[in-house]
Amino acid sequence: MTSVPTDRHAPVSGAFLREFVRDPRHTASLFPSSRALAEAAAAPVPRTGDPVVVELGPGTGPVTDLVARRLAGRGHHLAVELNPRLAGVLRRRHPGLDVAVADARDLPALLAERGLGGADVVVSGLPWAAYPAAGPPLTAVIAGALRADGAFTQFGYACTRFLPPARRLRVRLAEVFEEVVEGRTVFGNVPPAFVLTARRPRGGPASPAD
Ligand SMILES: C[S@@+](CC[C@H](N)C(=O)[O-])C[C@H]1O[C@@H](n2cnc3c(N)ncnc32)[C@H](O)[C@@H]1O
Repeated sequence: MTSVPTDRHAPVSGAFLREFVRDPRHTASLFPSSRALAEAAAAPVPRTGDPVVVELGPGTGPVTDLVARRLAGRGHHLAVELNPRLAGVLRRRHPGLDVAVADARDLPALLAERGLGGADVVVSGLPWAAYPAAGPPLTAVIAGALRADGAFTQFGYACTRFLPPARRLRVRLAEVFEEVVEGRTVFGNVPPAFVLTARRPRGGPASPAD
């Protein structure tokens, strides 16, 4: 299940900015991602087959637009957004999209409810706040939800690269993935950002046969 790619909706920066003012910790940015950053984040989405693609923290949907266009009706595209107002914007922009108003931590249950054995790609726009120091690591939840040959992308803002939450995320990713690669800085984004791509979950991922 995927949504119809759409260009006819005006940019929804106003809605995003309002949510930043309401909840800066979870919204984490003043602006939606640029197209260049969205392209880098969505790069592992396969151009063939019927992949299961999950977006965590889609916001108003700049990455959703790219993923939907690339899938063009193939596979299943699930967007998991904590903020119900942003989820509402996303549903209006992508009427056919499977939008769950939920915490990213609910991903295994969301996949199971839909009869999906695992994800081929998980694309995350989650803020560092979604990866707290305490409690079970979300990275393990994501790695466990991916098929063995799946990929996970997470973008971050270059200005926060060396802050403790960003460093902790890298350590946690290395614990649960065999490969973690940092892409080039996307200077066209406000603020400049980079994408981490993780592959080959260690131990117990969803099987390709699921
Ligand atoms: C930095 S914004 C990214 C939005 C969009 N992906 C983009 O690139 O413009 C972070 C998004 O993650 C959502 N979010 C924060 N914590 C979340 C969680 N635990 N589960 C799901 N979504 C979450 C926020 O509501 C917000 O939409």
